Amino acid sequence: MTNLSQVINFEQYPIDSLDSPDGLEFLRQIKEELEKQGSCVLSRFVTDEALETLAAEANQVAHLGYQGPTMATPYFFNYNIGKGLDVDENHPVNRQGKRNLRQVATDLISPDHLLSKLYRSEMMIYFISKVLGQEAYCNKDRYQSLNISVMDEGGCQQWHFDSSPMVTTLLLQEPDTGGVFEYAPGIRSDEDENFDVVRDVLDGQRENVKQLSLKRGNLSLFRGHYSLHRVTEVAGPSQRLQAILGYATDPNYEGSADSSVLHYGPRIATLESSML
Ligand SMILES: [Fe+2]
Repeated sequence: MTNLSQVINFEQYPIDSLDSPDGLEFLRQIKEELEKQGSCVLSRFVTDEALETLAAEANQVAHLGYQGPTMATPYFFNYNIGKGLDVDENHPVNRQGKRNLRQVATDLISPDHLLSKLYRSEMMIYFISKVLGQEAYCNKDRYQSLNISVMDEGGCQQWHFDSSPMVTTLLLQEPDTGGVFEYAPGIRSDEDENFDVVRDVLDGQRENVKQLSLKRGNLSLFRGHYSLHRVTEVAGPSQRLQAILGYATDPNYEGSADSSVLHYGPRIATLESSML
């Protein structure tokens, strides 16, 4: 199934004709929503047939996911963010939340899998470039570019900010209940970390918090660098499986090896040293 007309739901989304009047209007709506809401969800982005294949292939590799850190702050391991500040233990830079998920690294997902083909397709890269308004590329990192996030029963992700300006995800399998995506749109900017309001959200204040009920087959574009977000606890035996499609605006972008070891396990250090 490499013909993308059988994979992407072109009837609803003119991804194959983005320079046509329909395509331009579609892009305008996406950009407007991203600007206003900080997110844009395209439901049934892939066809039902493709979703069956994508979910089945994800299930084949889900057991390979590595747990990684079980507690993390909203800023992960960016310790510099609190540098020079007089911060107490309740300050957001010191607040660790529960992180319970496993990530399947890129090198464990077969290039023959439909997900890999969709991710690397020229059409997807062109689509993301148009949304971002600048040239986009598949992230070159051997481990971090395409991931599958696996949440078992009790799985969740702590409140956090992403490091990249926009994150593209595709939900492949829904949990029975829970696993809800929550976010506080545009809570910080390049100029202002807005720590007081971030602290309010961490303390349970809901005024700035929205929920996205993601369904399988949803493609989500999310400006997670400026929006604090989390995934609530998954309940029931069905795993939540979500593909993370890493696109970059720097053609040479590669993540750090330390971060890969942390998120994908000590096997990465062994692999890297054998390549020296
Ligand atoms: Fe995130």
